[in-house]
Amino acid sequence: MAGTVSFVTHSPIGAAVVRSVLGYSSTRLAVTLAGIDFENPLGMAAGFDKTGRLYPFLSCAGFGSVECGTFTRHAQNGNPKPRLFRFPEQQALVNRMGFNNPGAEEAARIIATQKHGAVRGINLGKSKITDLDGAAEDYLYSLRALVGFADYVAINVSSPNTPDLRKLQEKKRLSSLLRALRKECAPPLILKIAPDLTTEEIEDVLDASSGIIDALILCNTTIDKSSVPGAESLEGGLSGKPLAARSLALLRQVRAMTGGQLPLISAGGIDSAESAIERIRAGASLIQIYTSYIYGGPDLPRRILSGIDRYLEKNSMRMPDLIGADAR
Ligand SMILES: Cc1cc2nc3c(=O)[nH]c(=O)nc-3n(C[C@H](O)[C@H](O)[C@H](O)COP(=O)(O)O)c2cc1C
Repeated sequence: MAGTVSFVTHSPIGAAVVRSVLGYSSTRLAVTLAGIDFENPLGMAAGFDKTGRLYPFLSCAGFGSVECGTFTRHAQNGNPKPRLFRFPEQQALVNRMGFNNPGAEEAARIIATQKHGAVRGINLGKSKITDLDGAAEDYLYSLRALVGFADYVAINVSSPNTPDLRKLQEKKRLSSLLRALRKECAPPLILKIAPDLTTEEIEDVLDASSGIIDALILCNTTIDKSSVPGAESLEGGLSGKPLAARSLALLRQVRAMTGGQLPLISAGGIDSAESAIERIRAGASLIQIYTSYIYGGPDLPRRILSGIDRYLEKNSMRMPDLIGADAR
């Protein structure tokens, strides 16, 4: 797929064709977050473009931003297959991919050949072979390789498929990791957290990251698979529709805890203009999708964006009026 899509989108004509079929444009949809101008609020969540090769296509396919990665210092094959399981009735996925990626240096070589399109997030994680005490150095290595290509850098401490990764959400570890990264990261630094944290753990994350990060992504996949029959016995994280209620509740909770001072990006079960608007009204400046794109197909971004645009037009609003409208 990557070969075909880059063939199409590496030529100006190919890109224009993809844009005319799948893109959607309206000035009402513009959002500025952490000084970055987004053409629209819809992003492709991390883990879809695991090599960076799909960025040119996704840039033309409706998305205002594309979060490439997760990239790690070391190239990784990820977990043995099967590692991705579909639950179409529930519009859900369980995955235990395990950060399969070409490694930060190779990713930089891939991305260096591309023209800049949509806002490009670079999502970084810890290599599997690196222990927790070496985590900061591991992230820093990847950061140095890739920061030059990043409009923002997202720090992933929340995937369930790398042993111990989520322990980096603990207050002390998180604070020292983020401080180390901040020193070397000129672009906005964004943290991505898990939906399975307790209120106390969320408070710790907010304390540890306060004044260091520019935004928070809520959320990664959940390890609570009890809502999907047959999923519970699988190792991995659940995404898609069954994650929607938890993700929305987390967004509302963090919005209330931060009083609107920290920009929030919502991911988890968004699959329509209605669910996107609900998240934005609850306080999300941006939204991201992954699982619904698998089930909904490539015209889903256009459907979501045109729905948001119609809603804004009908209510004589622009995006800044809509963000957090229910929380004010
Ligand atoms: C197959 C798959 C792979 C993923 N890989 C990553 C990843 O590498 N890094 C990351 O931060 N999130 C990863 N995610 C999580 C998504 O970015 C997103 O946070 C989550 O799936 C919730 O959104 P959704 O319900 O729209 O899918 C992955 C999700 C799926 C389904």
